[in-house]
Amino acid sequence: MKPNRDVYRQMVDSALERYVYDVFDGQQIVLDAMRYSVRNGGKRVRPMLTLEFCHVCGGDPAHALAFASAVEMIHTYSLIHDDLPCMDNDDLRRGKPSCHKQFGESTALLAGDGLLTLAFETLCKAEDVSPAFILRAVETLANLSGVRGMIGGQVIDLLSEEKAVDYETLTCIDRLKTGALIEAAVLLGCYAAEVSDEAVLTAAKTYASCIGLAFQIVDDILDVTSDTQTLGKPVGSDEKNEKSTFVKLLGVEKCRAISDELTQKAVDALDALPGSTDFLADFARQLASRKN
Ligand code: IPE
Ligand code: IPE
Ligand code: MG
Ligand code: MG
Ligand code: MG
Repeated sequence: MKPNRDVYRQMVDSALERYVYDVFDGQQIVLDAMRYSVRNGGKRVRPMLTLEFCHVCGGDPAHALAFASAVEMIHTYSLIHDDLPCMDNDDLRRGKPSCHKQFGESTALLAGDGLLTLAFETLCKAEDVSPAFILRAVETLANLSGVRGMIGGQVIDLLSEEKAVDYETLTCIDRLKTGALIEAAVLLGCYAAEVSDEAVLTAAKTYASCIGLAFQIVDDILDVTSDTQTLGKPVGSDEKNEKSTFVKLLGVEKCRAISDELTQKAVDALDALPGSTDFLADFARQLASRKN
């Protein structure tokens, strides 16, 4: 099968429907909020990476759907919490009112918690992956989305508001808050294909780390160059919150150059992977030049 973004999106959307809609006996209001946010579009970048890494490593992408869905649940929960008034205080997400605008703050908080925990339940439902690799996936996703990964990055991001921080600190923030979950997405794809070859995993990590950092830099560029309609979230959020970003430190042009350089490095890392990597090379380039 030739990898295709539309096919991957359909696979991810229907798997998410299954996993989030299979919960029958929770409290309706929080389930509605979880479903609202998961269903709320989004580019599905991370789950697509999981499916394609499984494919490139010789696995069937369908076998990676539980892992891919779990990663998207973590991502969605992080966005629900990121938009709360105590964090970035943004009212629009993926072109619709943010979860807390639609359901209230406490329900949004709990919907995030519900997705976080459902993600780990979902990992355990990967029927076509051996228990040993499910265990690796659980550890990797917990680690990279937790205090040593995404949460850690969000903490430094908030602590750096209204401050002038240096290049190294900014790199650390972006690698953690955004890069870490992208690395988890990629590694879980490899684990779904039951890969343990260190050379492959190292190449996968290099690719993820380069596109992960570039992804956040482009997100920061779009916050100043795009419009709310195109972006589906409020532009100018970083300025409003006096965030420390690469754009603030270096300006848009220099940021574009860094993002291009990282993208090339990501593409170069693909040489060490076993299958055809055309999709992943194109994907990296498309993410760097994305409009939303
Ligand atoms: C937004 O992520 C948050 C960042 C880490 C920059 P995405 O740009 O992937 O958001 P969706 O999923 O497409 O809405
Ligand atoms: C968010 O970064 C990273 C997360 C872990 C959610 P941003 O705060 O820049 O993401 P957006 O711009 O609100 O999507
Ligand atoms: Mg934020
Ligand atoms: Mg934000
Ligand atoms: Mg942003």
